[in-house]
Amino acid sequence: MNIAQLRADTPGVEQLIHFNNAGAALMPDPVIDVMTRHLQFEARLGGYEAAGQRAAELENVYGAIGRLINADPDEIAVIENATRAWDMAFYSLPLQPGDVVLTSTTEYAGNFIPYLQLKQQRGIEIRLIPNDEQGQVSLGALQDMLGDERVALVSLPMIATNGGPVQPIEQIGALARDAGVLFLLDACQGVGQMPIDVRKIGCHLLAATSRKYLRGPRGMGFLYVEKSLCQNLEPAFLDLHAASLLTPDTFKIRDDARRFENWECNVAAKLGLGAAVEYALAQGIEPMWQRIQQLANHLRHRLAEVPGVTLRDRGALTSGIVTFTRQDSSAAHVQQWLAGQDKRINVSTSTFRSTLLDMQQRGLQEVSRASVHAYNTEGEIDALIEALMRMPRI
Ligand SMILES: Cc1ncc(COP(=O)(O)O)c(C=O)c1O
Repeated sequence: MNIAQLRADTPGVEQLIHFNNAGAALMPDPVIDVMTRHLQFEARLGGYEAAGQRAAELENVYGAIGRLINADPDEIAVIENATRAWDMAFYSLPLQPGDVVLTSTTEYAGNFIPYLQLKQQRGIEIRLIPNDEQGQVSLGALQDMLGDERVALVSLPMIATNGGPVQPIEQIGALARDAGVLFLLDACQGVGQMPIDVRKIGCHLLAATSRKYLRGPRGMGFLYVEKSLCQNLEPAFLDLHAASLLTPDTFKIRDDARRFENWECNVAAKLGLGAAVEYALAQGIEPMWQRIQQLANHLRHRLAEVPGVTLRDRGALTSGIVTFTRQDSSAAHVQQWLAGQDKRINVSTSTFRSTLLDMQQRGLQEVSRASVHAYNTEGEIDALIEALMRMPRI
């Protein structure tokens, strides 16, 4: 990988050391340029007129996302964030009283709350797949649980917001397919970070966001819906883009995945998402994933040298999200100390509010999260470690 070029494309790295890529990564120039150009265009031409002139580029966004995850353009819906994309998929499933949803202890609270809502409203049952000794979903346990014919859905994040394992998603997908059970994958932290192929995974539905490892703008995300399933899923919300009013009494929902979209959207951000996907594809997802793993392993290795620091990631395969706690210091204090360095260092804090079950199981309230991207460097990691070494105990 040409790291110098990656950094030259990323204006943010001049001012700061950014290890909050799992929150929102730094956008590269092609993303910033397409968005600022479009905003100027809207200001001078009018929003609808500007979008009309960009119709072909807007259409290409679907093709680019399709190439990124090996899907067809008509299997993609562009939706304003991963949570809403996930909601649109989840609430369209015809879950009945007694139907069982299998999920992992690492599930994101934003997804777990909808499970609880449908438990209250429709009487679905939520079951947690136990973890194996390395901390990821136990495939043996999953296979046993899938033997219950009431299981209607497997739904989990491929990488949790608070780090930990990359779940064995291809094996999970194969088990779900064998059992004839739907698989909804939250790929929010995986897309842009590592290769994702929906055909290999065998997931039926996949939700993702733009601003994290994809390096796109905030307020954008997408949903993948397998073609053969799409027309059997009726979105919980419809509008005049998702459906057409045919007569005063009848409407028709569109056939493709855009039935899950809504009409009004941030066109500049949609173009930005497209540019981010093209940029990621041009770098090569596999080399980026190799580089991210190499940097994350280096960071874990160096953190282990810092007195009072405990690494918190588990799993046979870990990602660019590195989590740790520091004895006698809160994560907020670590974050604040690092942000106050001469060259600001961004890390974030992940609390039990985002991943309650996992954090409770591990007896943690919060962790510090330093998430690396391919544009980070060993030198930046050294600066983080030096700053932690100098940090006074509170
Ligand atoms: C695993 C996981 N799922 C879902 C989300 C929600 O994504 P968004 O904020 O784009 O809705 C996040 C955000 O941190 C996440 O980490």
